[in-house]
Amino acid sequence: MPVTAVVGLQWGDEAKGKIVDLLTDQHDVVVRYLGGNNAGHTVMFGGETYKLSLLPSGILRKGVTNVVATGVVINPQAFLDEMTALTERGVEIGELLISDRAHVIFPHHMAEEAVLEESRGDDAIGTTMRGIGTCYRDKIGRTHAIRMGDLYRPDFFHQRLTDVIAQKNTILSAVNPKFEPLEPDAIFAEYTGYAERLRPHVCDTTAYLHKALKSGKSMLFEGAQGSLLDIDHGTFPYVTSSNSSGCGIHVGSGVPERAIDRMIGVVKAYTTRVGGGPCPTELDDETGLHIRDEGNEYGTVTGRPRRCGWFDAVATGYGARVSGVDCLAVMLLDVLSKLDEVKICEAYEIDGERTTDFPSHAADLAKAKPIYRTLPGWKTDITGVRELSDLPKEARAYIDAIAELIDFPVEIVSVGPDREQTMFT
Ligand code: GDP
Ligand code: IMO
Ligand code: MG
Repeated sequence: MPVTAVVGLQWGDEAKGKIVDLLTDQHDVVVRYLGGNNAGHTVMFGGETYKLSLLPSGILRKGVTNVVATGVVINPQAFLDEMTALTERGVEIGELLISDRAHVIFPHHMAEEAVLEESRGDDAIGTTMRGIGTCYRDKIGRTHAIRMGDLYRPDFFHQRLTDVIAQKNTILSAVNPKFEPLEPDAIFAEYTGYAERLRPHVCDTTAYLHKALKSGKSMLFEGAQGSLLDIDHGTFPYVTSSNSSGCGIHVGSGVPERAIDRMIGVVKAYTTRVGGGPCPTELDDETGLHIRDEGNEYGTVTGRPRRCGWFDAVATGYGARVSGVDCLAVMLLDVLSKLDEVKICEAYEIDGERTTDFPSHAADLAKAKPIYRTLPGWKTDITGVRELSDLPKEARAYIDAIAELIDFPVEIVSVGPDREQTMFT
């Protein structure tokens, strides 16, 4: 039975949610393994739109087990709110498992993030302000971390929370004189309430996944964010705080990478980025605004307008190689349909030198001037096309150029948000 992974190869929002939703009916188990409620995955079918953040997109199909694995950081209130919102819309939540090893986001994580982001001024990372980075920081630091499993050990949890909050209050009051100290007992009561409601779901998901593999269950790993936001391999420091490239699957789930049969790298037919950091192909002009309008490029989580530009084969190719993909899914091709010509960045010029290597330093990336290949536009509405062979020849040439430059085959092409608007090779 197949084990499939779906990862974004750019700066997030590549439409991973749509691909996961499409592939879910071929899999028994869907696994989210990183990030938290910084993610926003949109799934559309039958005239309905669902926006998922912490819950795996597999939740929308009956009979699938959804797993929120060890590498995810969990805001329990956000988790419960998302479950309630789906239930109110008539979604029947089936088996849903949450790792007892996953780390928990607390109010002090949001408070710390607000201070840290503000202190960077114009050079802010532009985070989603959901306490993601500060929770991962405590995880790596160990001394101030609290995991899901800790919530069910009241004495330990109370003591740990009291100690942690006392220290956080001291630090936060020192950096922000207006900071209102947090009350550990109130937070203990609040989080104990969440923990009770989540109790039926919390378990050792790693053991579950190992048994599921052994019994031949098929599994789908749902990536969040994108490869260029990876903490180790992305555009540091303008990244998220986890391994959001394919590298994170093993780390975040406990399932060895060699168990994966097929990794699909999801790419937008152009580039978007939310938050700070360099983006060489960003267009500060009419075309950039046109792409934003046509693609409705506004963040699912924060509503921020996404920065838009041409497809960047240097950055995306790097994302594909770091992740170790087998093939590509090219999404939102329809967004480019009204343009006279379309461009792909095939190399950068940095300090007068041409390169196809992705720079390791943000300052070098900021200097990169894109070298473009220009192709004719197709100037036809393609949202109704259902066979690749029926795409206009210019659109096929554009897809072929992406495959050639990234050097992986394009196996899925999407021409609209709905499940139906998808073509497979
Ligand atoms: P994710 O975070 O990678 O799951 O992506 P998002 O859901 O944040 O953003 C992708 C957006 O594009 C969503 O609003 C989708 O409904 C939409 N979408 C997905 N595929 C297509 C497509 O082929 N064409 C268009 N126009 N929109 C699409
Ligand atoms: P999905 O799963 C796009 C970006 C933020 C910011 C940086 C760090 O929908 O593709 P964080 O709150 O994670 O510390 O913010 O990462 N970012 C995303 N951008 N899509 C996402 O998720 C993102 N998750 C985080 O905008 O630049
Ligand atoms: Mg998104």
